[in-house]
Amino acid sequence: MSSSRKFNMVSLIRKKREKQELSTEEIRYLIEQYTLDQIPDYQMSALLMAIYLNGLNDRESSDLTHSMLHSGVVVNLNHIPGIKVDKHSTGGVGDKLSLILAPIVAACGVPVPMISGRGLGHSGGTLDKLESIPGFNVNLDLDTYARVLEKHQLVLIGQTEDIAPADKRMYALRDVTATVECIPLIAGSIMSKKLAEGIDALVLDIKCGSGAFMKTESRAIELAERLVSIGEHFGKQTVGYITNMDQPLGRTVGNWLEVRESIESLQGKGPQDVMEVTLMLAGTMIWLGGKASSVEEGIEKSKESIRNGSAFQKFIDITAEQGGDIRYLQDPSLYPKASQTVEVTSDRDGFIGDVDSYEIGMTAVELGAGRMRKEDVIDPVAGIEFIKKHGESVKKGETIALIHTNNTGIATDSAKRVLSAIEIVSNKPHEIKMITHRIDKFGVHPIV
Ligand code: URA
Repeated sequence: MSSSRKFNMVSLIRKKREKQELSTEEIRYLIEQYTLDQIPDYQMSALLMAIYLNGLNDRESSDLTHSMLHSGVVVNLNHIPGIKVDKHSTGGVGDKLSLILAPIVAACGVPVPMISGRGLGHSGGTLDKLESIPGFNVNLDLDTYARVLEKHQLVLIGQTEDIAPADKRMYALRDVTATVECIPLIAGSIMSKKLAEGIDALVLDIKCGSGAFMKTESRAIELAERLVSIGEHFGKQTVGYITNMDQPLGRTVGNWLEVRESIESLQGKGPQDVMEVTLMLAGTMIWLGGKASSVEEGIEKSKESIRNGSAFQKFIDITAEQGGDIRYLQDPSLYPKASQTVEVTSDRDGFIGDVDSYEIGMTAVELGAGRMRKEDVIDPVAGIEFIKKHGESVKKGETIALIHTNNTGIATDSAKRVLSAIEIVSNKPHEIKMITHRIDKFGVHPIV
């Protein structure tokens, strides 16, 4: 870190306020000095808002990512054979796909170095799910990270202090200055962390819908294009998919409930929506990792790894390696139950229509599955289980969902909240298209 203090922060803010481009040197200065604590939060906040309002072009966006990436350690995994591929999701409700696809892809011979995040607002996080397995340690240092990857072709950890520290500070500031939902800032934040992991290729799951940060298809595509262009700019093959987040994924929302559903999925009993997206992402990772000649062949290999048990065995092996108690994976019925289970029942005959996934996510947070404040402790058994899903018929008085919680005071209110988030319609609704677009360096391709 060495850029001199030749720039004046006020003039950088003014420049962006006036919709002008920031130079590579200016962006480098900004990120270096902010990471060194030489730029106060009030000036950074003003600049972030100017970026939020006036954007960054592709060049500025790549420069921002580059500076954020180099604010910390960039892991080198070149000594480990194979093309290392990771996946990133922009976050959703019931999104347990990483837990299923990472063991599948590793079982197919592609090394998966995965650095994941915690729950954020209404959306869950892979780390919180993994930590619901007693003993599972996601806090490995970077040497252990590389060693475990080499041994198992898989490693699952959380962001360390030395990976993209600029992002950590900027994200916390964006969170309290209403500048989170900004495509170039989201892209810089995601890609600086992913590029620091030591990957060679990346698959992106860009969620779109009521439970996603991107609510519309056009915004989701815009974000995907920016992410793919940054990945390719840094020499990493990057493929993105726009996937549906208008209903929670699968039948469970909540940390242990989602691990349980992931185990079932790895044993060949996964819900259709979860498996459709998982197989597309896993197949693409296996293809990018050079272990299949096409995505379709990658999908076939993924299915085979489920059929022959190697994917589930990989999940058991990595859990044991990272200190987790595998007895709960082998027999999930051993896991402690929530003290209260409340039924959500239908008040009429019909079909399950739209589900407000954001509301479902926030209800799960309130039940203890996520955090309202940073210091809140997660209750691993808290969550919501859907007995009925989109398009399924329901009779008046029938159970639609179950609320699992140890917070007995709120269970009944949460059940009402869940019921009002689920639309019951008289006619069977159209099937939801789970994957709508593929985005790669050649452009945007609608999936037919
Ligand atoms: N996830 C991230 O890592 N960063 C963002 O800015 C938004 C979602």
